[in-house]
Amino acid sequence: MTQSMTWIRLAKVADIPEDEGLEIQLGTQELALFKEGENVFCLENSCPHRGAALAEGRIQDGEVICPWHGWRFSLSNGACSSLPTSEPAACFETRIENGEVLVRLPEEPTKE
Ligand code: FES
Repeated sequence: MTQSMTWIRLAKVADIPEDEGLEIQLGTQELALFKEGENVFCLENSCPHRGAALAEGRIQDGEVICPWHGWRFSLSNGACSSLPTSEPAACFETRIENGEVLVRLPEEPTKE
């Protein structure tokens, strides 16, 4: 089954800090927006290791460093470079429109 996706406006680019993430609560879903240079990224705000808030991590070289145990996750695809066999962080497509960040999300996020 294919889940339909929709673009949702989440924040102004200017509201995202330069060196860490911006936490966004959307219904039951917690997201983390990051900015590096001209690019904006969106990951689920939960580290796949033990659930730390990735928005509180530092950004370095295209990755966010988890604030609890230091694992590093790619901002562009969520892959973990510290332990490549680990589950990636959930990652969502973004785009910028008129200084605002839009993120492509499932229309009705499902919880299993
Ligand atoms: S909770 Fe993120 S590395 Fe452990």
